[in-house]
Amino acid sequence: MKGIQQRKAEHIRVSLDEDVASAYDYWNDVKLVHDALPEIDLDEVDTSTVLFGKKLACPLMVTAITGGHPDAEIINRNLAEACANLRIGLGVGSQRPALEKGSRKSYEVIKEFDVPLKVGNIGAPQLIPQRKKRAFGISDARKAIDMIDADLLAIHLNFLQEIAQPEGDTKAKGCYDGIRALSRELPILIKETGAGISRQVAARLKGIGIRGLDVAGAGGTSFSKVEGRRAAMLGDRRCERIADTFAEWGIPAPVSVMWADVGLPIIASGGIENGLQAAKGIAVGADCAGLARAVLREAMESREAVEKKLSLIVEELRIAMFLTGSRNVRELGNAQRIITGTTREWAMLEKEI
Ligand SMILES: Cc1cc2nc3c(=O)[nH]c(=O)nc-3n(C[C@H](O)[C@H](O)[C@H](O)COP(=O)(O)O)c2cc1C
Repeated sequence: MKGIQQRKAEHIRVSLDEDVASAYDYWNDVKLVHDALPEIDLDEVDTSTVLFGKKLACPLMVTAITGGHPDAEIINRNLAEACANLRIGLGVGSQRPALEKGSRKSYEVIKEFDVPLKVGNIGAPQLIPQRKKRAFGISDARKAIDMIDADLLAIHLNFLQEIAQPEGDTKAKGCYDGIRALSRELPILIKETGAGISRQVAARLKGIGIRGLDVAGAGGTSFSKVEGRRAAMLGDRRCERIADTFAEWGIPAPVSVMWADVGLPIIASGGIENGLQAAKGIAVGADCAGLARAVLREAMESREAVEKKLSLIVEELRIAMFLTGSRNVRELGNAQRIITGTTREWAMLEKEI
């Protein structure tokens, strides 16, 4: 195993073994107001929703994690079976290894299960030529979609990660046009990978016909930290230092949800580990919550472990709905919430500019 496949396997290892979480929990700055007299039974709360035309039992999805290396097949199998059983959405990790090296099996495996919303994945940096590598075009994007019968193709924005990678793709000029070209023909979701999306970027993307946004804001997995640990393992002091400098970079996840609200479906993600945080994501304006690292250890273990963890998150989400008197996801979106601390300062900033 070498090159990109090796790198993908190292991301999993580092994410499991090292502390790669952001130092600040921005979701803790969001408080939901308690309803002491909800006038609805807990088991009457309706958590179901429709996202991108697909019926989900709960506004939750597992966002892109992996594919293309030996451990990836079992991870994606366990995730897919659990998501199918719980009726929640699932994204696969970057399909670049399959498009470049032909290692498709670890992605295709999710087709064996009836996952209600499947999301493919390629990177924005791959939409333009980087060093000696050719750019991915429409036929590559179609291949990625067909590989898993995807309902949407996520294009990830990950320049924070690329700057901290010894082998990073740091050309960004032309990515916007690349996204525009794909959005004309295919259902495209734009996702960040831990640094969030601003209102300006969201508005520019809406204008070219993307279908939705997964904000992946700061506060959860820090890809700068992931790459920093890898750089340290490889003895690359320069990248280790850069990764450390930018370890906490990014727009706080709850703020990014509020800012990216430009009239498209939004997935709140970045640091979501429990159902209360997922509920907060909906309350600040998202249509669905997304999580990745919170289920990674379980995904390595078994379908049962993933299902147990996700079921608990769904139960907590239901409880948060009950305690805010929200009978359904739409009402949760209107639940009273308070923004405090650093997150409040960020949220205020935009009103001034
Ligand atoms: C091990 C690992 C691998 C990831 N690989 C990808 C990827 O290939 N493509 C992508 O768009 N996002 C990828 N992500 C980012 C996640 O989808 C998510 O946006 C980010 O981790 C923030 O969510 P979290 O705080 O719940 O982990 C990866 C995350 C982890 C932990």
